[in-house]
Amino acid sequence: MSQIQNPTPLAAPDQVKVTAVTHWTDKLFSFQTDRPPSFRFQSGEFAMIGLADNDGKVVTRAYSIASPHWDDHLEFYSIIVPDGPLTARLRHIQIGDDIILRPKTTGTLNLARLRDGKRLYLLATGTGFAPFASLIRDPKTYERFEKVILVHGCRTITELGYSQKIVADSRAHPLIGEMVTAQLHYVPSVTRENFTQTGRITKLLADGKLVSTLVLPPLDADYDRIMICGSIGLNQDIAAQLLAKNFQEGNLSSPGDYVIERAFVGNGI
Ligand code: FAD
Ligand code: A2P
Repeated sequence: MSQIQNPTPLAAPDQVKVTAVTHWTDKLFSFQTDRPPSFRFQSGEFAMIGLADNDGKVVTRAYSIASPHWDDHLEFYSIIVPDGPLTARLRHIQIGDDIILRPKTTGTLNLARLRDGKRLYLLATGTGFAPFASLIRDPKTYERFEKVILVHGCRTITELGYSQKIVADSRAHPLIGEMVTAQLHYVPSVTRENFTQTGRITKLLADGKLVSTLVLPPLDADYDRIMICGSIGLNQDIAAQLLAKNFQEGNLSSPGDYVIERAFVGNGI
């Protein structure tokens, strides 16, 4: 009598397994998951990730994908909000745990939304660095722009740990290292401690210190393209500076000079 064999169990839909976790500060951690073969995304996009609680209720939130599109793992960089519906539990994930990953990806920090230019400025505060961790490892970024200037603003030096490591690893990477070393300028800045570079990104832009330190010409809508990812306040303040210099926001049907993504949705918004 023939026996019907149970097929190998398939992974539950929309679930991925955690393969690595690193805590950078008491409020910031990054983690990797395996990547379903069908999961595709463009550098700079975000996906919905989440956890189910013991009653099966699912909480998902938007997360920028920090890993490059060519990697066989997915990586995310996360804040810990002490009473946050998701991160109060996500902070405890360990290797081997399952998390929910919805297959749809989207986002405005897309190279296709920008006109051609000479220099690309990537301006981030806090976890707003995450989408740029992907973009600075995409060879297309360096084919489109001669220079890529990544500015990461945080309150303290330890909060720069993740971006410092990603940039150092990218410079040493056997496939993209040469490109990154030649074309990427990394400007970490802190606002609440002494450091080699201090001050808010808005101020570094407004007083011209950013470009003068890098020996670059003043921002010019004919040559410079900008991506911004931070709090609503930062996004609005930088957009106001750019509009005053005649930069135009880009979209897919009409690529422009700058694009903006919120790194998070603020309280009550
Ligand atoms: P929530 O109820 O979602 O948030 C509570 C409060 O915490 C918010 O009102 C806000 O004041 C604050 N907060 C939330 N997220 C942050 C943050 N990242 N930095 C500072 N303060 C915050 N978060 C990440 O950690 N990494 C990402 O890559 C990321 N990408 C995002 C992309 C998009 C397009 C958007 C809209 C949000 C993104 N977020 C990201 C925020 C994320 O969706 C959640 O808000 C965050 O994980 C906290 O979830 P929570 O349920 O614990 O608390
Ligand atoms: P500051 O220390 O002067 O508030 P947060 O941890 O609150 O998300 O802030 C991350 C970084 O973003 C900090 O260096 C903070 O500077 C800076 N920041 C906050 N709001 C703005 C803004 N509207 N414009 C420029 N930088 C900002």
